[in-house]
Amino acid sequence: MRITMIGTGYVGLVSGVCFSEFGFDVTCVDKDQAKIAALQRGEVPIYEPGLAELMVKNADRLTFTTDLPGAVENADVIFIAVGTPTRRGDGEADLSYVYAAAREVGEAMRSGSVVVIKSTVVVGTCREVRRIIEETAPNKEFSVASNPEFLREGAAIEDFLRPDRVVVGVEDERGEQVLKALYRPLNLRQTPIVFTSLENAEITKYAANAFLAMKISFINEIADLCETVGGNVQDIARGIGLDNRIGPKFLHPGPGYGGSCFPKDTRALAATARRLGSPIRLVETTIAVNEERMRSIPDRVIAAHGGSVEGKTIAVLGIAFKPNTDDIREAPSLTAIPALQAAGATIRAHDPQAAEAAKPLLPDVTWCNSPYAAAEGADGLVIMTEWNEYRALNLATLSRTMRGNVLIDLRNIYPPEEVAPHAFNYHSVGRKPHTAEPKSPARPRLVSS
Ligand code: UDX
Repeated sequence: MRITMIGTGYVGLVSGVCFSEFGFDVTCVDKDQAKIAALQRGEVPIYEPGLAELMVKNADRLTFTTDLPGAVENADVIFIAVGTPTRRGDGEADLSYVYAAAREVGEAMRSGSVVVIKSTVVVGTCREVRRIIEETAPNKEFSVASNPEFLREGAAIEDFLRPDRVVVGVEDERGEQVLKALYRPLNLRQTPIVFTSLENAEITKYAANAFLAMKISFINEIADLCETVGGNVQDIARGIGLDNRIGPKFLHPGPGYGGSCFPKDTRALAATARRLGSPIRLVETTIAVNEERMRSIPDRVIAAHGGSVEGKTIAVLGIAFKPNTDDIREAPSLTAIPALQAAGATIRAHDPQAAEAAKPLLPDVTWCNSPYAAAEGADGLVIMTEWNEYRALNLATLSRTMRGNVLIDLRNIYPPEEVAPHAFNYHSVGRKPHTAEPKSPARPRLVSS
């Protein structure tokens, strides 16, 4: 079976490369000539652990091209994995790229193909894709399927090759048989494959993302309560997470969820559901809680500095919206840093992967090539992203080289007792702040007469 993947964004590229790892010949198509040229040279346009290695390993089965008609004509299965960004104005998903791809697919495909929508699309989109292809190619026979993707950035290869489940929406037997064959390698691991209708598959994707986003906003609000009453959110997350009905994952409080999926998909679900007359208030509230949280981060940093950052230097560790990615889309750092600058702070920043992408968006930041370099001479240090290399910082060195002693750990990566021996005013999320002991005043010397 020959696969064509339209769109070499995160989902398209990872899925294409992983299907080649499953043993299929895959042609990845994109309109972006520079990107395709780079991929043809073996360069990977995104930082994703393991992706480059798989591309090299399966180079014989992978083709990259801008020639959509040629790639579609020769394919048995055509995946549409183009972007569905937020539409300006109403917050719904912009489906124009999906529909444009559907039209091009209709023109070029041969009869008998299966068209699979992998892009995140609102309910009803797959039916509209069918209508568009029928209109474009009235005499061709084809099946439409929906196969939403649940992979996480930074763990995308693992998530694709070893998923918790695969969801497939189909409209006929042929679609089901072809998708079963594509995911046969997962039988070894007995991965459940949920076969359902096109509409159910479309809604499942949004419901999954919205539920996870809701868990995060929930624990963030519990963290606020803990800060008010002097509680410890870590103990509470563990206490509730050990209940199998709740589960321990996605209960890490932080600066708010960012990235290319949760903000966009929660907005699209809320807006579409409201338009359809069935508003999902929990999701609307999740969005509001998250937006407010992101906006409040600079105030939190300012408060930790005694109410003003005017003339102060702040080191920010982590710009990417999460570790193991160079993606900065909707990252909390992108709103926090300009707000701190507007409040008079000078920013020194470090990120292991995302600095290049962030430079044009964050002017007047001093970019440093290590966390220690960023901390040098700073009044305060903010851990914004939980990169592994920030988990074992030498706190004694930091304390020695910083001018001030404010440490703000927005990801709770340090146990307060580990920070306590160092002279930091330590602020984390949903836990009591730890204030450094005031230095004992110098003892008066006894002077003998
Ligand atoms: C998410 C979904 O997990 C994935 O299934 C879907 O296909 C795409 O969207 P991704 O955005 O790559 O994946 O990252 P994820 O690990 O889910 O994190 C999303 C955001 O939530 C990040 O900003 C992260 O920092 C935040 N988060 C996550 C928390 O604040 N707390 C948590 O407990 C988990």
